[in-house]
Amino acid sequence: MSDTAGDNTALEQELDRMLEIEKFPPPAEFRDRATWSDPAIYEEAAADPVAWWTARSKELLDWDTPPTEGLDDSDPPFYKWFSDGRINASAQCLDRHVAAGNGERVAYHWRGEEGERRDVTYAELLASTERFANALKDLGVDKGDVVGIYLPMIPEVAVAMLACARIGAIHNVVFGGFSAESVRERMEFSEAKALVTVDGARRKGRTAPIKEQVDEHLGDLGSLEKIVVVRATGIDCPMSEGRDVFYDEVCEAAEADCPAQPMEAEHPLFILYTSGSTAKPKGILHTTGGYMTGVTTTHRYVFDLKPETDVYWCAADVGWITGHSYIVYGPLSNGATSVMWEGAPDYPHKGIWWETVQDTGATILYAAPTAIRTFIKWGADIPAKYDLSSLRLLGSVGEPINPKAWLWYHQVIGGGRCPIVDTWWQTETGAIMITPLAGITETKPGSATTPFPGVSAEVVDEREGTPVSEGQGLLMLEAPWPSMLRTLYKEDERFVETYFSRFGKERYLVGDAARRDADGYFWVIGRIDDVVNVSGHRLSTAEVESAIVAHEAVAEAAVIGQSDPDTGQAICAFVTLRGGTEPSDDLQEGIRGEVAERIGKFARPKRIVWADDLPKTRSGKIMRRLLRDIAEGRALGDVTTLRDPGVMAELERQIAAEGDED
Ligand code: WTA
Repeated sequence: MSDTAGDNTALEQELDRMLEIEKFPPPAEFRDRATWSDPAIYEEAAADPVAWWTARSKELLDWDTPPTEGLDDSDPPFYKWFSDGRINASAQCLDRHVAAGNGERVAYHWRGEEGERRDVTYAELLASTERFANALKDLGVDKGDVVGIYLPMIPEVAVAMLACARIGAIHNVVFGGFSAESVRERMEFSEAKALVTVDGARRKGRTAPIKEQVDEHLGDLGSLEKIVVVRATGIDCPMSEGRDVFYDEVCEAAEADCPAQPMEAEHPLFILYTSGSTAKPKGILHTTGGYMTGVTTTHRYVFDLKPETDVYWCAADVGWITGHSYIVYGPLSNGATSVMWEGAPDYPHKGIWWETVQDTGATILYAAPTAIRTFIKWGADIPAKYDLSSLRLLGSVGEPINPKAWLWYHQVIGGGRCPIVDTWWQTETGAIMITPLAGITETKPGSATTPFPGVSAEVVDEREGTPVSEGQGLLMLEAPWPSMLRTLYKEDERFVETYFSRFGKERYLVGDAARRDADGYFWVIGRIDDVVNVSGHRLSTAEVESAIVAHEAVAEAAVIGQSDPDTGQAICAFVTLRGGTEPSDDLQEGIRGEVAERIGKFARPKRIVWADDLPKTRSGKIMRRLLRDIAEGRALGDVTTLRDPGVMAELERQIAAEGDED
């Protein structure tokens, strides 16, 4: 015990010392073997970004009809890329590798929660995809139809996505952590014709009856004609005659051959709902040619990928954009061997990630800072028990990484020899936008460094929109890029309003605040809108508020993201109760339950503050800024615009009382 404590103190001191180091150049050993080590690439791309992206697209993808056009910018912000080209995303991910003789290469080393192993080769993945694509056609799914996918991290999730892509159906994946009620909303908005789900999902030794919940919440959804059920756990589940079918049965009945149909470059590939400023999620629409260009290029360059030898592990969930771009489309398009991992980081034990690295020989690990902070809490002695020497590159995604966590990742996991790529991007951008290139960029802990070649980013002044060469402002993307969202599904106006109304139709407003330092490096600070980032999961405060007020005892609620040492931000809810209702622990649980039911467990408030009243402006707008100040114990900002400044004093008393209860 005391030995470990001693080591930890030594490590602590070492990391503290390292905080003084400003820049980490690429390790010589890494740079010597890196495919991209010449900084000239940045100038080359900047000289003509459209030509650069077009060249990458032709070099890294096999088009059925190569495009003759790069960017069509005749109607901003409705940009088109490579529009006269034709390509099929599933053929890029599967057929071309099998045709090149790499069918026996492992696409996924799948690792199940209970220690199961399935190594799925490219040939096997292709065969399953062809069968399921035919099965979907047999079920009446056509090109342009929307297919919902609500599956855990099992290989079938990739098969389902690729099968849709193969026949031109548009997939709409919902993260398995969302509740069935959220799935309903997303299926309803997108008018999904079919849904692919599971009998049950496992989590840390327990099984949740997913199909049963789906029936409860989606049973009466008229547009949903078919539900396909993957028998993942074998638990009994209700099946509705005529509507529901088992995945294994429809696949068996289907034809084996399903040639990939070449799609127009701008044919929609998928919709992925994400959170914005309002309670209604935004259906981010990505299309085929540009998206495949973006993810294939960035996956190869950012991770310095060597498809023949690397074992790449992105520890995200396929239900988020990171999973779409960097577990499914990017890695498969590049013919990489990936780890697909089902479980939770502490099941069956807290060393399971490191055991998985050791056991698969993973060379690249791409994870979220929240996971890293959890591992820091558990202690460096856990990863120390495993052989992590196969790792050569580490990645970070989803939220800002604090310098101390960066250094811990670098030293403890990377053994000081692996460069770290801190990648900034969004569901909307489709692919990584700001990132180091590991063989070129000198990294600074906590900074995503500089834009990827061919990407034009600026930090601009909030009022004028003029670029700030050094200092803080709004992050903007100043020129179109191939993998950008094309619109919000069926909401063109909202698309323009959300991203292109502040500084014109040619400048994409990211929604993040950022700082630029004297070297031109970008430091992303966080969201400027009412979006909260909990463990890298994007949530809107309005979404959580509307779930809370659905509770019968609640009169009003205001939700803020509060800084949290583990999850980056945590949900803190200020709740006023209906007259006559007394606050209680049971009520807290009831409110959390309501949020779990309507959104998902991950959205439950960590903290609930009972409030007699909420601070509002004279026009009735809740001043979240003041709530953030008070929740984090900061001095209150300007309160003069409040309708009733007395509210804050009362809230301060209530917060103090909350402390007493602890
Ligand atoms: C945040 C996830 C700092 C940011 C890929 C962005 C980051 C939002 C980083 C998008 C990073 C993502 N450093 N912040 N490296 N990566 N973010 O759509 O606020 O789930 O706008 O996409 O996450 O979240 P989304």
